[in-house]
Amino acid sequence: MDQELIKKVNKLQDAFATAGTSNPIDLPQIVVIGSQSSGKSSVLENIVGKDFLPRGAGIVTRRPLVLQLINRPNSKGEVGGVALPEGHKPSATTTAAGASDEIEEWGEFLHLPGQKFTDFTKIREEIERETENKVGKNAGISPQPINLRIYSPNVLTLTMVDLPGLTKVPVGDQPKDIEKLIRDMIMKYIMKSNAIILAVTAANTDLANSDGLKMAREVDPDGLRTIGVLTKIDLMDQGTDVVDILAGRVIALRLGYVPVVNRGQRDIDTKKKISAALEAERNFFENHSSYSSRAQFCGTPFLARRLNVILLHHIRNTLPDIKAKIGQGLLKFQQELEQLGDALGEDDSNNMNVILNIITEFTSEFRTAIDGTSSDIAT
Ligand code: GDP
Ligand code: NA
Ligand code: MG
Repeated sequence: MDQELIKKVNKLQDAFATAGTSNPIDLPQIVVIGSQSSGKSSVLENIVGKDFLPRGAGIVTRRPLVLQLINRPNSKGEVGGVALPEGHKPSATTTAAGASDEIEEWGEFLHLPGQKFTDFTKIREEIERETENKVGKNAGISPQPINLRIYSPNVLTLTMVDLPGLTKVPVGDQPKDIEKLIRDMIMKYIMKSNAIILAVTAANTDLANSDGLKMAREVDPDGLRTIGVLTKIDLMDQGTDVVDILAGRVIALRLGYVPVVNRGQRDIDTKKKISAALEAERNFFENHSSYSSRAQFCGTPFLARRLNVILLHHIRNTLPDIKAKIGQGLLKFQQELEQLGDALGEDDSNNMNVILNIITEFTSEFRTAIDGTSSDIAT
């Protein structure tokens, strides 16, 4: 049911894009923050279900990456929009692409207009190349974002932002005020009220010192749009776990925490596939004495579902505003039509009817999307 709403929202967004109107549905941006090497890029990549981000030890992400996921129907004309968890089935995508010659998913960079990247490894290389173009090879950073769009039947239309990690000590070509520079960069994205903050903390570090949580609290003191992500659970000392954190007994977060296990450096070096990593993650939680009883609340697929729910709540909260904007748009259309009607001769009355029908259909589509689903998202 929730997926139905998402599909409708995707359709509405398409309708607006086709009509050349600006999008009234202000979907949230998911912004990933935390200390350097806490696993931000790894988390984001797992959520999207695609291998395409530079990851690794040290400062790898050196410019913001604004990643716009754009849902598009597959070659059978089905609108996927099957939301984030579906992104975890890359094999399904491969099959779909294999069944038809049409390209199902690709990436496009703002700085390389018209160039379609169907090989996601090439996307990673281009991010690296474009980072080096701007800030060199020696750890330099820049607030100038790289903009990447990914078109796919398997993603939700929404924006995710990958950011450089918080760090204190300048290295390489970094300026002395590196800490402030990165803070300002992050602040710009998390200040926005439609930003959902993924505050990433490595579980083998102290939560009380979490840079991500500290910054999140500055802009979201009540924790309404911050979700805690605990990475590297697999690297915790034997006999320790994050059960107290999950139970809200350390630093309580209204939206809670999700523990995850991403690919480690060795997995990156041996090019372990996302599907294999997700499988390993599931096995880890299901077989760990601290987590097996709550394994369904652990791991990346659960995180993706949580994000989905948060997204639906956001849509519900913005519905009044969306309704008002659609109402204004319709009024304007009707006025334009009436003027058009005066200018048309009697022979044209047929055309007029056609246009009116289109608008009526369009309106009822909106009404269904908006009125027919508000109960779905209350849960
Ligand atoms: P970022 O700097 O916060 O974007 O972190 P990255 O995603 O680039 O990851 C930094 C390093 O930590 C990489 O070597 C990853 O393989 C490793 N890493 C991230 N998450 C995990 C995890 O959950 N478990 C393990 N073992 N390693 C991880
Ligand atoms: Na890193
Ligand atoms: Mg990174």
